[in-house]
Amino acid sequence: MKTLVTAIQKGGQGKTFATCHLAFDFHERGYRVAVADMDTQANASYTLAGHESGYTASQLFNGDADSLRAHFTGREDDGLVLIEADPALANIEGSLKLGEAAGKLRANIAALGEFFDVLLIDTPPSLGVIMTAAVLASDYMLSPLEMEAYSLHGMKKMVAVISNLRKQNPKLRFIGMVPNKVDGRKPRHVANLAEIQQAWPQLVLPLSVGSRDSIAEALGEQMPVWKIKKTAARAATKEVRALAQYVFEKMEIAQ
Ligand SMILES: Nc1ncnc2c1ncn2[C@@H]1O[C@H](COP(=O)(O)OP(=O)(O)OP(=O)(O)O)[C@@H](O)[C@H]1O
Ligand SMILES: [Mg+2]
Repeated sequence: MKTLVTAIQKGGQGKTFATCHLAFDFHERGYRVAVADMDTQANASYTLAGHESGYTASQLFNGDADSLRAHFTGREDDGLVLIEADPALANIEGSLKLGEAAGKLRANIAALGEFFDVLLIDTPPSLGVIMTAAVLASDYMLSPLEMEAYSLHGMKKMVAVISNLRKQNPKLRFIGMVPNKVDGRKPRHVANLAEIQQAWPQLVLPLSVGSRDSIAEALGEQMPVWKIKKTAARAATKEVRALAQYVFEKMEIAQ
């Protein structure tokens, strides 16, 4: 199983959008996909409602691998499975030390690998124990980013954090920053996008996702944007499919 964490400490950049759409896309390709929603806001759990596993994200930190195996063994599902956010996640943040949290999570992810091809982790917008442990236990990381000054400022901070965490998790591959919610009518967005793609080609994906109403609509309607039956959803679909294809190749899921 390959594990991808979507993380950036700044809120509202598109972590949950990316996590859910990668899940829908990989599932459609025929892979067994698990999504762990580690954010008490439970946005991914909302969009993926109907796919609940009955196993919660806090159990990935305080449950043991044997009970996880017992839960998933023989379970019927359609190949897209949600490990839902639960209020107990808030206690994890306060009660577990980072080393302990990352160790537990790694053991549970190893057990999940007996049941799934891909695990996608959605994280809360803060550099706490949960996000850090998720990064330490993952193989790949993706960070969506708006083209606004505060976000770009946050990006520099995130780059420092990533290089630090890679020392503790050498297998971690940073797939990159996804320029998201790019409004082509705003010269500021267009200039910022060109600037970061040119300045950090190793860190910023060579694609972008526009500010598309149909994406927000799809998340609320609990479906991928390609199921929204509106002409305006076509451009969004193209961009999101390109993102999924890029990540799919980088994660070498097919191999
Ligand atoms: N490309 C896009 N175009 C339009 N709206 C978008 C786009 N991406 C995300 N959104 C919307 O922006 C809001 C924030 O996106 P999302 O919830 O994915 O961010 P997040 O990083 O998960 O936020 P948080 O840090 O609060 O968890 C949501 O309402 C979502 O529907
Ligand atoms: Mg979110």
